[in-house]
This record gives sequence, C-alpha cells and structure tokens, in this order.
Amino acid sequence: MSLTPIGEPRQKITVASLRDNKLQHQPITCLTAYDYASARLVDEAGIDIVLVGDSLAMTMLGYENTLSVTLDEMLHHVKAVRRGVKHALLIADMPYGSYHISPDEAVRNAARYVKKGGAEAVKVEGGEKRAELVRRIIDAEIPVAGHIGLTPQSINVMGGYKVQGKTLNAVEQLMRDAVALDHAGVACIYLEGIPREVAAMITAEVETPTIGIGAGPDCDGQVLVFHDLVNLTFGHAAKFVRRYGDVAALISESVMAFKADVTAHQFPNDSESYHLPKDTQAALETVLHRKRAMR
Ligand code: KIV
Repeated sequence: MSLTPIGEPRQKITVASLRDNKLQHQPITCLTAYDYASARLVDEAGIDIVLVGDSLAMTMLGYENTLSVTLDEMLHHVKAVRRGVKHALLIADMPYGSYHISPDEAVRNAARYVKKGGAEAVKVEGGEKRAELVRRIIDAEIPVAGHIGLTPQSINVMGGYKVQGKTLNAVEQLMRDAVALDHAGVACIYLEGIPREVAAMITAEVETPTIGIGAGPDCDGQVLVFHDLVNLTFGHAAKFVRRYGDVAALISESVMAFKADVTAHQFPNDSESYHLPKDTQAALETVLHRKRAMR
C-alpha cells in the first residue's frame, strides 16, 4: 500500500528518502522486476525500490543459477524496467564477473548501467571484502547497495543455498560485513538468508537501511522476487516466500481456454473480426455476381 495520501503527487524515492524511512521506522518495500509490464505494475502499486536482480538469470532466462548471466543480458532488462518505473528507486544488480576482476572494470560496468540503463544505484554482493570497491564506485557518483548473508553468486564457495550466520564466528563476520558497508556509505544493505536475530542486531547497529529476504521481520524493509510473489517460479519455494497470487494458474487457464476456442472454431467471432466498408462490400458483390453470370 502506498503511504501517499490520496490526491497528493507521489514523491520520487531516493537514497536519502530511504534513510528517512529508517529514521521514521517506516518499512521500505522492494520487489524485483525484469521487464516493462511488471515494472510498471510494481511502480504504480507504490513499491519503494524496484530491483533488477540477477535472479532474472533463473526467472526470465531459465539458467540454473545466477552465475552465467552477463552484463549485456542484464542491461537489456534494466533498460526495459527503466521505461516502466517513474517513482521507485531503480537498483540494478551487478552480475557475477562484472566487478570481480578489477576496480576500474567494476566502475566502468557500473557507469554503463547508469548511462545506458538509467539505473540509480547498483548492487554488489559481499561485505568487508567489497568495502574498498564500494567506495570506488561511490566516488564515481554511483550509489551502491550491499548484499550480505546468503549471496547467490558465492554458491560454489558456500556449497549450495544455505542459511548463513549460524555460528558465533559467522555472526561476528556478518556484523563486520554490515559495519564495513555502512562505513563505506552504501545506500542500503540486502540481508539474505540469515537468522532473524542476526538481522535484528545488524539493523539496530547500522545507520544504513537494511532490506531483508529470508532475514525475518526486524529489517528496515523487505524484498521478494516478483516471480515468487505471484507463483511464476517453477519448483520448490523457499521458507520465506509468501505467495500473494497465482499468475501461473491464470496463464495456464487462459492459454487452455484459447486453445479450446480455436479448435472448436469459437475464436475469433464476428464481432472480433474486421469488416469491409458497406460500399466496398456492395461493389464486390456486384463484381462477383457478374462473374458468376458470365460462367
Ligand atoms: O537477484 C535478486 O533478486 C536479489 C534479491 C533476492 C535481493 O538479489
């Protein structure tokens, strides 16, 4: 639900306004979107942040994980989403390999997202070890979102999608990661797949707004993958997913109804067809009548 009173123009969400949300304890809403139509619907519903997540590797492109998606593939979707978003803050995920090789290349890639895609911030995965890089990107006037906990681009190192921060050492490392990103000046920190107690501690400790996914209710905001929200992801849903609609069922029913109508000669009907203008029809009938008479 939008917090904008009826009749007042909706304000543009900015990095600064997210900080105000945290200070005023006003929960931040974030959804992923990967194309023009869904971005428009999400933006018009009053969601604060639209994230073009690299989860599009799976949801839109059918890859097995996020590792294969390229910056060019991502950019194609960022541009489409940009055309659909007016008020929300638009964050674009830096895909695996686009910020790991050198800081110069990372800044160049982030700037490409801004120049060509119209992104207002970029997201990178990792905490303490990314703090320097985050500073470099911010120095190039590009706001950065952090992402710690279960970071899907580290799947091969983590040995699968596993909840992080379960031991004392791991909790301490997560806290160091969050504080390092906070000091580096990130716009927000995504907390994924960590115990709610740890997310609550981090949220209380840092000045940066935290956005949780599988991190419990005490974060400053919550994000879900659009396809999870509306049941468009095939297969098992994670524990933290709440389905708010069943678009898969709606699409399947619509497609099957179309097929049934076409096979039964029920689509299209006369009112769904174009017709000749009356005078052309009359002239055509005269011509056909003459031709038949000459046979
Ligand atoms: O790629 C993505 O969708 C994400 C969110 C789950 C935070 O990074």
